[in-house]
Formats: sequence, structure tokens, C-alpha cells
Amino acid sequence: MTNQRPTIELRAVESSAVRESIDRAKHAERDGHWAEACAIYESLVRDPEANSNTRLAALRWLGRAYLEQGNRGAALDVLEAAVASADILGSPSAVAQALNVIGIVYQVSGDLDQAAAIYEAARAKAELAGDGARIAMIDQNLGTVAMIRGDLRGALEAFRLSHLGYQTLGMRNHEAQILNNIALAYMELGELADAETAYNLAAEAFEEEGDHARQLDLAVNKVQLYIAGRRFDEALAQCDKLLAVAGDEPAPWRGEVLRHMGVIARERGDFGQASEKLRKAEEHALGSGDLLLRADVAEQLAEVYWAQKRHREMLQSLNEAHSLYSQMKAQHRVAQVEKRNGALEARFLQMAKHWGDSIESKDRYTQGHCERVAFFACVLADSAGFNSRSLFWFRIGALLHDIGKIIVPTEVLNKPGKLTDDEWAIMKRHPEAGLELVADIDFPGDIIAIIRNHHERWDGTGYPDGLKGEEIPFAARILCVADVYDALTTTRSYRPGLTHARAAEIMRSSTGQFDPELLETFLEWAETADIPGRPTPQRQAIFASSGTD
Ligand SMILES: [Fe+2]
Repeated sequence: MTNQRPTIELRAVESSAVRESIDRAKHAERDGHWAEACAIYESLVRDPEANSNTRLAALRWLGRAYLEQGNRGAALDVLEAAVASADILGSPSAVAQALNVIGIVYQVSGDLDQAAAIYEAARAKAELAGDGARIAMIDQNLGTVAMIRGDLRGALEAFRLSHLGYQTLGMRNHEAQILNNIALAYMELGELADAETAYNLAAEAFEEEGDHARQLDLAVNKVQLYIAGRRFDEALAQCDKLLAVAGDEPAPWRGEVLRHMGVIARERGDFGQASEKLRKAEEHALGSGDLLLRADVAEQLAEVYWAQKRHREMLQSLNEAHSLYSQMKAQHRVAQVEKRNGALEARFLQMAKHWGDSIESKDRYTQGHCERVAFFACVLADSAGFNSRSLFWFRIGALLHDIGKIIVPTEVLNKPGKLTDDEWAIMKRHPEAGLELVADIDFPGDIIAIIRNHHERWDGTGYPDGLKGEEIPFAARILCVADVYDALTTTRSYRPGLTHARAAEIMRSSTGQFDPELLETFLEWAETADIPGRPTPQRQAIFASSGTD
């Protein structure tokens, strides 16, 4: 996404004081001092010395600067004023410019339909003005919207139009930037040879233009291409070259290169090296305040832990990535985040399930227990009105509710007969042991409550805290119903799985164990629900006659 600014033309007709203000503001922008840039643009907008075109441009720049500060409402206000002023000045090209920035505001806040509609309107104005450069820029933005939507072919088409426009105008540098976007789209499509061709053409153009900074950015992107093609030697050579350059000049991409090196090491099975490089990348991201890179590094670290079966650390890293994405959302950087977060949440659930499974695998009678409990518990939580966000965390908690069983010896877990007092004491420690495992992961409250309190009883005789009635966290009360129902309806070491009717009878007669309202809601649902693998009376008869041990 580019935003070409006609600074040079404006400077030529402005007084030196106005020119100096513009320079100061641009400087502040480059250094990330957005508040300072805003203050200068605000005074420029009202400066009687400045001509109308400058004041109009200042409105647009101000909109951009407000957006960078996360102030979407203020950005839209001044940009709408810019559209109105451009209209009064009778300049369709300036209207197109202002509309384009409004499109960017909607795009970064994730309202892609609105963004695309506004870009189209901007494009029509730019066509009216015969402003080829603006048309090419808007096509580029339309391509970016298509890319975020996952419409990669649509993105390529828009980028190609943009490329053609810049090519016709001889705008080599812009052409190269678009080629970089084209390469990224091909990368996402997995068409690596086409991506490489586009990168090479872009590199040539940047070289001709002497744009060293962008050449280096491109070289960083190319590392990703090599990694995707499993060309690790080339990827690593490129990283080394880049780090050598980074020693001599400011290199905001240094963290990204280190992240790539971490990924290469992980793919080669060198987990020690992978962690080290990723930790260094994290330091850079922390130093530069780059949340996206931090999230990315945390996700990659989670994959390193995953490969090593270090479940606790893996979930810790995933949780960190997730909370970073939430911070970015709060800053209205939604478009960047939405897609990535979706993928992250899927991975999160997969990993939580894997950790849960690894505990279950110690207990030959509880295979699939965590997943079924999570399913039952989510049905109940959903009917209790949990929103999708709370449900996500609730599901994670349900999958992990018994992780503390790691401390219980396999022979105790699988013991067919009654447990001794000592064995029972160990068994009863599993909620607290689970809590210790996740103590340093900053999980939301529901997860902690589920792990700690899923064996509390409504009458206060449960463990570990002996909580009573509504003192027991709601999420834990739900889990308790789901947990016991699944335990009763699946085969255990001491008996076959029970039918729904029998399980419901036992649960209803177990007065004092469950939240009565939740129990009834659940049993009502479970009576008619189509639950895969549930014992029917016939199936139970077969179990009974064949005998189980
Ligand atoms: Fe448990």
C-alpha cells in the first residue's frame, strides 16, 4: 500500500515557513513521532499562509497520522473534510486521493467491503481526472484487499493492472514495489517459481533506481521464498549476507532475518539453535515495539516446542501470540490480524487437544475423553450464552482440565479395583498439579477455574477447595457435569459404558454433586442429541455379554 505524496510540487509554490513545517512533519512521521506530526498538520490546515492545495494535502496527511495513532474516528472526520474541500476546489484527482486514504482507514480496521467500495469510487474519480498514477495506486490497494480476503487470483489481477499502469508511466520504483506484492501473492499460492521471477524483476528495478533500502527489504522476503522451497542453504546464505549488511546500517528487518534463521534451524531439527535465534528475534521485536513480529516469533517458538513435545512451553508461546494479536486488534490493526489469528486459534486448539491426549494415553479407558468433555461442556456453555471469544477459551480449558493427571502413576490411573488411601490422595492432587503446570501461562480466568475446580461439588464436599454452590466458578460447574456424563457413558476399567437413561438416573440421584439447573439443561439436551459412539441399550448388552475387565 503506497501513498504517493506530492510534496515536491507543493514545496515549489509555498513560503519557506510552510515548506519547513511540511519537512518537519515528514521527519516526525519517519521517526514514528505521530503526535508531533499531527500537531504540525493541524496547524498547517489552519495556516492562512499555506495555499489551498497544501491545506488540503495537510488534511489528508493528518488523516493518515490520526490513523497511525489508532484514532479512526478523527481520521475519518478530517478525510471526509478533505473530500469535501477537494470537491469545492473542483479537483477529481484530489477527491480520488482523499477517498483512497479513507479506503485505507477501512482496510486497516478490517472493513474490507467498505474499503473496496471506496477504492472503486476513488478509482472512478481518478479515471475522470485521467490520473494514471493514482489509478495504479488504487489498483494496488484493491489487490491488497483481495489478498487479505484470500482471493489470491483477484489480487494478482489487480496487482498486474497496477503494474501495467506504473510501467506505462515509467515509474520504475513503484513498478518494483508492485512486483514485490505479486511475488507475495504467488508465494501464498505456493507458486514459487513465479514468485521468484517476480522477485528477480523487482530486484532489477530497485537496483536501477539505486533504492538500496527496498533492495534489502526484498532480499528479506526472498529468504521466505527459499524456506518455502526448502532451499535452506540458500536461505541461510542470504540471512548471513543480510546480517553482515545490518551491522553497518539501521536495519529494521534484522529481527525478521533472525526469525527466518530460527525457522531454518527448526526445519533442520536443530531445536537449540532455533530457540536461540528466535529469542534474539524476540529481543529485536521488543526493542522496536513490533507487535506483529513478536507474535510471529512466539508462534514459531510454539512450533519448536511442539516438535519437542514440550506442551507447557508451547501453550505459553501460543498464548503470548494470541494476546499480542488482541493488542493489535485493540489498535485497529484488524485486517493484518484477523486471518492470522484464525489460524493461530486452530493451532492452539490442536495443541491443547494434543496435550490433553498425551495425558489420556496413560489411561487406556479414557481415550477421547477430553475432546468429548470439551464438546459436551461447550454445548452447555453455548446454551448459557457464552460468546464466541469466551467459548474459545472455555474449549481450551475443557481440553486441558485433567493435565494435572501427569503426576498420577499409570498403574493408579488404570487400576481396576478400589484405590488405596495413598493412591486416592495422589489422584485428588491432580487439579492443583494442573494448576501448577499452567501457573506461569497468563491464561484467562475460566481456564484456571476449570482446571482447579472441576471436582468441586454443589454441596461443598468436593475438592480441592471445598467450594459450595455458586462459589464454584460457573465454568467449573459446567465442566463437572460434562466430565461425569462422559465418564458414565464410556467404558471404564470397572464397567461398560452406560446408556443415557442410566447415566441420567445416576446423575439426578447424586444430589449435592451438580448445579441442578445446569444438570437439567444438559440432560435434556443429551437425551435427544446425536452423540457419536454413545452406548445404545443394544451396544451395552453386547459389552455386558462379552465381558470387560
Ligand atoms: Fe479431573
